[in-house]
Amino acid sequence: MAATSRSLRSRRSCMAVPGSNPRFIEKAQGLPVDQVFLDLEDACAPLAKEGARHTIVDALNNGDWGDRIRVVRVNDWTTHWTYRDVVTVVEGAGANLDAIMLPKVQDAGQVKALDLLLTQIEKTVGLEVGRIGIEAQIENARGLVNVDEIAAASPRVETIIFGPADFMASINMKSLVVGEQPPGYDTGDAYHYILMRILMAARANDLQAIDGPYLQIKDVEGFRRVAGRSAALGFDGKWVLHPGQIDAANELYQPTQADYDHAEMILDAYDWCTSAEGGMKGAAMLGDEMIDEASRKMALVISAKGRAAGMRRTRKFEPPKG
Ligand code: GLV
Ligand code: MG
Repeated sequence: MAATSRSLRSRRSCMAVPGSNPRFIEKAQGLPVDQVFLDLEDACAPLAKEGARHTIVDALNNGDWGDRIRVVRVNDWTTHWTYRDVVTVVEGAGANLDAIMLPKVQDAGQVKALDLLLTQIEKTVGLEVGRIGIEAQIENARGLVNVDEIAAASPRVETIIFGPADFMASINMKSLVVGEQPPGYDTGDAYHYILMRILMAARANDLQAIDGPYLQIKDVEGFRRVAGRSAALGFDGKWVLHPGQIDAANELYQPTQADYDHAEMILDAYDWCTSAEGGMKGAAMLGDEMIDEASRKMALVISAKGRAAGMRRTRKFEPPKG
């Protein structure tokens, strides 16, 4: 699958579900999220990891996931769990899995190692080679410094994900409240550089940029405030840890209805004005608004996000009379 077709899928809300908890796994199948990831890493206790691999295989093969993107987060390469996580899950349920999430990625070699392992398993068990994607979590200073090469490390990479909790620990940020501004930092946004760095690497490689968790699960206003920042920059979605966060994520990471309608109108107006019927004009007009190639590109982005999220337009383009 080409990078562009991978990146067209909507990932507004990415639900984290502990792989060791069959009740939560069952419940996630009824939630209105774009993606579910079944976790073998930090939401899964060391002694529960082996059993969780099999719980996950069973859930992927027998669960009803609808059109949700199905992802499994394995343990990172500095542990001894990674290869068995990947082998057990992909051999057991590779046909029913969209991507592997690799946490704490530090350099391109770690992505390439996962790519090679996936390719061997796909060939061995007869799966389409290259279909399973990779989601790379940036969770420490080394990962961020190397994010460009990580994003370009394999055609399987679909998303670059900010992992704020581990990242805050990695850089010694003076706060325990994930995603919120550290006390004493009273100017700007302490996460701006990290978010922008990830976004640039993602966009330069046609990947999606995903924001990580907000741990105060009952504080939906706090979630909205923090999510609103990365959504405004252009991020494609955010993790959700609790059903109460889902509606906010789905709303914030898709265009507003007005913007979506406007984008579709711009595209129609541009097509019409540049057609023979519209006189093949270079500069198009939508009412009093002038549309050029750059505004068309902006409209294409909004329209693609809206369409991927299943939005429907509420305005119809009428060619100007006379
Ligand atoms: C997510 O994995 C995080 O560390 O924030
Ligand atoms: Mg983490």
